[in-house]
Amino acid sequence: MNTMTTTTTIGGTASAVPVLEATGVTMRFGGLVAVRSVDLTVGAGEIVGLIGPNGAGKTTFFNCLTGLYVPTEGRVSYRGGVLPPKPHLVTRAGVARTFQNIRLFPNMTVLENVLVGRHTRTKEGLWSALVRGPGFKRAEATSHERAMELLEFIGLAHKADHLSRNLPYGEQRKLEIARALASDPGLLLLDEPTAGMNPQETRAAEELIFAIRDQGIAILVIEHDMRFIFNLCDRVACLVQGEKLVEGTPEAVQGDERVVAAYLGTPFEGAPGAEEVAEVEAAEAHSATGTGGTTSPEGEAQ
Ligand SMILES: Nc1ncnc2c1ncn2[C@@H]1O[C@H](COP(=O)(O)OP(=O)(O)OP(=O)(O)O)[C@@H](O)[C@H]1O
Ligand SMILES: [Mg+2]
Repeated sequence: MNTMTTTTTIGGTASAVPVLEATGVTMRFGGLVAVRSVDLTVGAGEIVGLIGPNGAGKTTFFNCLTGLYVPTEGRVSYRGGVLPPKPHLVTRAGVARTFQNIRLFPNMTVLENVLVGRHTRTKEGLWSALVRGPGFKRAEATSHERAMELLEFIGLAHKADHLSRNLPYGEQRKLEIARALASDPGLLLLDEPTAGMNPQETRAAEELIFAIRDQGIAILVIEHDMRFIFNLCDRVACLVQGEKLVEGTPEAVQGDERVVAAYLGTPFEGAPGAEEVAEVEAAEAHSATGTGGTTSPEGEAQ
């Protein structure tokens, strides 16, 4: 495995500068620390997985990377340059993403949804678009061609003129990926790309992500499907209660008892949040005995 920590650029082609470098990223919402001092890098050609139980802070971390949230602390760099916390600037810099809750334009066609993703890459401005001069028409033709190429690539070219809301769920997820790719990213962030997919679609998604990586795009992917993650990723990081608990090869993470415990919900010694859990449990036990409580023992047994 490569080490991606040095910052020397070699000959202008292969570079040891990480594609993504997040340092000390913290996100607080009032009293809640959703992401706590997380460091993460994604190197060129890498597929990195981000796992963790529900509410661990994975999506919030993505939102910090993509400028949707301004992190309370920390820094995010793309190919050595610090990213400004503005979504359109992050996209323009070369970072694209898909969303856990699909965000397509339901009443636009499949093709139009991909074209929307291209707008950060077209230089033609408002006047050019209004006048529809030769520059605009040329840009439009190129965008159209590129969008159709992407639809071929994800296997949806035959549905280019369907309304996106009429696509089955799995195809909507793929369309989101095509839309993200339309901005010509160097890094693609995928938030639960196989949620709602059947096993065949999941396998196809895996192939698609490998193919994207083979085009030179680095990938950071959140997923709950462990088979998918451990098959796909070169490296996996596990977030628990906002903190990066473990990071390593799929083999190492898969076998890590702390990861297993986090998913089963059994706090282990020294686990982030274990103290709070104990405090809450103690308080609950106390109030149950004090008031007679509203919860019956039968209720608790469920
Ligand atoms: N805008 C917000 N305001 C306040 N709290 C938030 C906000 N966004 C997320 N949170 C909280 O931050 C924590 C982390 O949520 P997040 O959605 O990042 O988790 P996740 O790891 O993506 O979970 P899942 O696997 O269920 O998608 C949760 O406690 C959530 O309620
Ligand atoms: Mg999430």
